Amino acid sequence: MQFYFAPMEGVTGSLYRRIHAQCFPGMDRYFIPFLEPREGKCFDGHDKRECDPEENRGIPVVPQLLTNRADRFLEGARRLADLGYGEVNLNLGCPARTVVTRGKGSGLLADLPALEALLDEIFARSPLPVSIKTRLGVDSESEFSNLLALYRRYPLTELIVHARVQRDQYVGTVRRETFRLALDGAPWPVCYNGDLRSPAACRAFQGDFPQVERVMLGRGLVANPGLVRELRTGQPLTREELRTFHDRLYAEYRALLSGDRNVLCWMKELWFYWICLFPGSEKAYKAIRKAQRKSDYEEAVERIFETCPLSVEPGYWR
Ligand SMILES: Cc1cc2nc3c(=O)[nH]c(=O)nc-3n(C[C@H](O)[C@H](O)[C@H](O)COP(=O)(O)O)c2cc1C
Repeated sequence: MQFYFAPMEGVTGSLYRRIHAQCFPGMDRYFIPFLEPREGKCFDGHDKRECDPEENRGIPVVPQLLTNRADRFLEGARRLADLGYGEVNLNLGCPARTVVTRGKGSGLLADLPALEALLDEIFARSPLPVSIKTRLGVDSESEFSNLLALYRRYPLTELIVHARVQRDQYVGTVRRETFRLALDGAPWPVCYNGDLRSPAACRAFQGDFPQVERVMLGRGLVANPGLVRELRTGQPLTREELRTFHDRLYAEYRALLSGDRNVLCWMKELWFYWICLFPGSEKAYKAIRKAQRKSDYEEAVERIFETCPLSVEPGYWR
């Protein structure tokens, strides 16, 4: 089985990926959260940093582009090829309102002729091999068969499927039986994504879909950064490892960002996921969320690591 780290904008940026790869080596791929090619300079400062080869040295990363314009995709892909990348991923899954209303991400799934025109041009002219990350449709999973018929006309390197429709956002039961359609006679490898949050969930998935050889993990892997190591070796994440991972991220964010507020903002985003590993930690988590100063934050973190037991079968995100 190959394990991919899902792109998560605002969570799995270059600093996070670097520290994760050092603390928990062995991921097959990390997908860079979407880069949005723009008029003129193509990538803004943030996007340039994210795909800077120096920032990703020694880490198997795949950049992802979010656009509904073939010319912008092709310009982005050319720049990525110049930087030495060997593949690019097209985002057809993002359900955020601000993205969808601009006809990007999963917004593109609503207009198949427009999507076809985009893919025709991309696949005719891309300087890099292209993979796609998609949802099953916009409103209904019955849309998936038409989408698949369209994708099958192109030489994708792989199709990554988040088994939900746009309307689901990130909640509700994943639609695994509809995902199955992607596997019948697929001309390219298919990667599954959605709600693989624990070793038990991953093993159950492998039992139900033995023919799937690639899975992409997002929130479950952010919550338990040692999840893939446990699946591969049986060695579960320890409290000490999570503490070390936390401390390294915290130190690096402090070195990079100015002001407690910015640093705490990043760390609170991570705690939203990590806290699932600490059942019964509501009070301590509240203290983290409320912390405005470094000292309050550090005290609350200390309390969690010292007093709350860690479980690698995470509960749901709060
Ligand atoms: C905060 C957040 C940011 C995300 N950013 C991206 C992104 O940049 N590109 C993308 O294709 N998907 C993005 N996703 C979707 C994830 O890659 C993944 O498909 C989703 O979380 C479902 O997988 P999971 O259940 O394993 O978390 C994001 C999801 C979350 C929650």
